Amino acid sequence: MVIFLKVKGRCLTTHVTSTLQETEPMGRYEEYADIDWNNLGYGLIKTDYIYKAKCTLNNTFEQGQVCDYGNIELSPGAGVLNYGQGIFEGTKAFRGEDGRILLFRPDQNAIRMQIGAERMCMQSPSVQQFVDAVKQTAIANKRWIPPPGKGSLYIRPLLIGTGPTLGVSPAPEYTFLVYASPVGNYFKAGTGPLNLYVNNEFHRATRGGAGCVKSITNYAPVLKAITGAKEQGFSDVVFLDSVHKKYIEEASCSNIFLVKGNVISTPATVGTILEGITRKSIIDIARDLGYKVEERLIALDELMEADEVFTTGTAVSVATVGSVTFNAQRIEYKTAGELVSQKLYKTLVGIQVGKIKNKYDWAVEIK
Ligand SMILES: Cc1ncc(COP(=O)(O)O)c(C=O)c1O
Repeated sequence: MVIFLKVKGRCLTTHVTSTLQETEPMGRYEEYADIDWNNLGYGLIKTDYIYKAKCTLNNTFEQGQVCDYGNIELSPGAGVLNYGQGIFEGTKAFRGEDGRILLFRPDQNAIRMQIGAERMCMQSPSVQQFVDAVKQTAIANKRWIPPPGKGSLYIRPLLIGTGPTLGVSPAPEYTFLVYASPVGNYFKAGTGPLNLYVNNEFHRATRGGAGCVKSITNYAPVLKAITGAKEQGFSDVVFLDSVHKKYIEEASCSNIFLVKGNVISTPATVGTILEGITRKSIIDIARDLGYKVEERLIALDELMEADEVFTTGTAVSVATVGSVTFNAQRIEYKTAGELVSQKLYKTLVGIQVGKIKNKYDWAVEIK
C-alpha cells in the first residue's frame, strides 16, 4: 500500500504494509469527494494530487513524487511554450460494482508516449515509470473516482519541454506530470447519437507530419473547425485527408468506424491519424465477436453509404453516430434496434469495469 506524507507543502511517497493511516487533514480519505456525482460533465475538476518527475536531455527521469495538486511554474523560454514540445496521453480509472479500481491498458499509453517522445525529440519515462505514475495518481485521488455507473476518473499524463531554449532545438529539461479529473459523458447531449460534420477546409494532419502522435500541436489548429461545427449544432468534425481531400481520417478526439453488412471498416493508420487504444481494442473485440474488420483507405462516399457509423476513444468510449453532413448533404444512419456499436460498447465497458473477463487481461486492478 502507498501512503503520502506531507512535509511542509512537499510530498514524500512511502510504502507501508499496514492498513491506511490518516496522515492528512480530515476528509482526504473519505470514500467519495463531496460533488454531485449524478451530473458529471466533461470539465476539469481539481482533484487532490498530481504526479511530477523531471529529467534533463540525454538522462533518465528522476523518481517521481505525488504532490498537492496546483499550478506549475515555467520559464518563459520553456520549449513547450515556444516550440510546442509537448505530448500527452489520456486513460481512465473505473470503479467496478465489486469495489475494485481498474485501469484500462495503461501500458499501451506508455508505449504511445514513448513513440511520440521519440518523434518530438523528447526524453520519455520508461513504460514502468509511466504505469506506476498513473497508478499512484489514481490511488492518491481515489475519492474522485466516480461511483459505479456514474463516470470515470480521466487521467492525463503530460510530457513537456520545461527547459529554456531560444533557438529552435530540443529543450534541455523535460517534466512528466500526471493529473486527473472525474468525468461523465464527453458530449453535452450525453449518450445520444452524434451528428458529425465533414470539414474539407481544415486538415488535422499531413503525410510526414505528427498526426500519428498525441502532440499538443495537433489540437489548436483544428479548434476553428470544431468550434465552427459546434456553433452550427454538430457534435464533432470528421477530417479528410489533406492530399486528395477525399478519404476520411478521424474525428477531433476519436477514431471513426463504419459498418456495412457484417463488415466493419476503419481508416488505416498511415501516419496521419492517431492509433487509438480504443480503436485497437475495438478491432480485437469485433473480430472476437465474429465480425470481419478491415483497416484501409475509406472514401467519404463510402461513409455516406454505410449502415452504421461510430467513433471510438478514451473520452468518448464507443459513440453511435446518427448523421453525417457534408456540404448540404445530410445522411442519417440506423440508431435504433440491434446496433453493432452498442454491442461493442457494452463489451468494452464490461471489460473496463471488470464485469467481463477478457482473454487479454486488459483491465489492470490497482490497490
Ligand atoms: C485525434 C485523436 N484521435 C483518436 C483518439 C482516440 O485514442 P484513444 O482511443 O487512445 O483514446 C484521440 C484521443 O486520444 C485523439 O485525440
